Amino acid sequence: MKRFFIFGLAALMSFICVSLVSASPAKRYDEATKTCRTFDQDSFWWGSGAKTFRSTCKSCHTRGGEGGFLHVESKTSRAWSRVFFEKYPKCAQDGSWDSLTMDELLKLNDYLYRFGAFTYDANDANDCG
Ligand code: HEC
Repeated sequence: MKRFFIFGLAALMSFICVSLVSASPAKRYDEATKTCRTFDQDSFWWGSGAKTFRSTCKSCHTRGGEGGFLHVESKTSRAWSRVFFEKYPKCAQDGSWDSLTMDELLKLNDYLYRFGAFTYDANDANDCG
């Protein structure tokens, strides 16, 4: 009986762990500001991060555009955060992002992190419920 209970507990724990890693993230740690950002409505596809992506980034990052095609799933969550923390892309260094405020960049990073590659899990209530 006791062994059965332990096995059940282990199964439950691993189920919880698996759902934690596969579900869309609910928050992220921002290395630049050293803060934990909890995603709200603004990080969704109708929020300001998504709007910035469409209005600013997408002006160059379309198929055939000068920056090449980029969409939210072009990178994983962590890879997107690296883009904003290290600012390694050519466009970040040549001033193409200069019109954006710190707050807009943080929200853009939130949105891209929230919906980055492999974050969608159709079996998770957070994503389809
Ligand atoms: C004025 C045009 C322009 C704008 C606006 C722009 N980019 Fe770029 N971006 C470029 C160009 C040009 C490159 C270099 C492409 C190459 O080397 O092939 C680039 C490269 C990149 C790369 C590296 C490419 C890769 O596949 O890893 C990333 C990431 C990126 N941009 C993200 C962004 C984000 C996020 C925004 C919005 C904040 C943005 N860009 C806005 C022109 C732009």
